[in-house]
Amino acid sequence: MSKDKLIIAIDGPAASGKSTTAKGVARKLGYLHIDTGAMYRAITLKILRSGLQEFYSKRITSIVDSTRIELVPANSSLKVILDGVDVTEEIRSPEVTAAVSSVSAIRDVRQAMVNEQRRMGREGGVVLEGRDIGTVVFPDADLKIYMIASIEARAQRRKHELDAKGLETDLNELQDEIRRRDEKDSSRDESPLRKADDAIELDTSDLTIEEQVEFIVSKAKTLSGAKGF
Ligand code: DC
Repeated sequence: MSKDKLIIAIDGPAASGKSTTAKGVARKLGYLHIDTGAMYRAITLKILRSGLQEFYSKRITSIVDSTRIELVPANSSLKVILDGVDVTEEIRSPEVTAAVSSVSAIRDVRQAMVNEQRRMGREGGVVLEGRDIGTVVFPDADLKIYMIASIEARAQRRKHELDAKGLETDLNELQDEIRRRDEKDSSRDESPLRKADDAIELDTSDLTIEEQVEFIVSKAKTLSGAKGF
């Protein structure tokens, strides 16, 4: 399909700064920001609410088939709408965070999410962030970034975010939780987290958000120029 705007893929492990960076890049370029982790969190919330005790039941398929997830740009952020209801806050709860890696390893869940992400992104003008965007969702993305940061930097950032919400956290526990999620996300059979061969690695441990955003925006502008749009 011909398009005159880029598809930008940003992948990387938990708390590597993908969301804030993707949001900044999308704003500067006038692109749509698609937080695919938020989609996996929303379906996880629905499955938790359904009371299923284990995540391999056939009922998962029917739940996935009857679920509608929308990402709606609102001011400077994204609202996550699950079956018509705003769940932007709920999907960040510790319960959802603890379960999301297990739910996102299920093939039927991934297939539905990937189809939807391809539908949303295929015209271009999008910044998609997640774990498998450059490897599975859009292997032909125009620009692929793989963001990494030290475990210390990632836990510290997560702590700042949670502090700002008035939630008390322990830095060591946050490091453990991030390590556990990385391990699960990287070792699953279905589309594990890995850097695409043609992705540019960006270590954000010592970068500011502005520097991260600028790095990607400048690459995007060079590419757009080369493509003549
Ligand atoms: O980016 P995040 O931490 O909000 O993502 C939550 C979880 O969703 C993450 O632990 C793994 C899963 N995920 C995924 O499997 N594939 C994606 N493209 C995005 C997220």
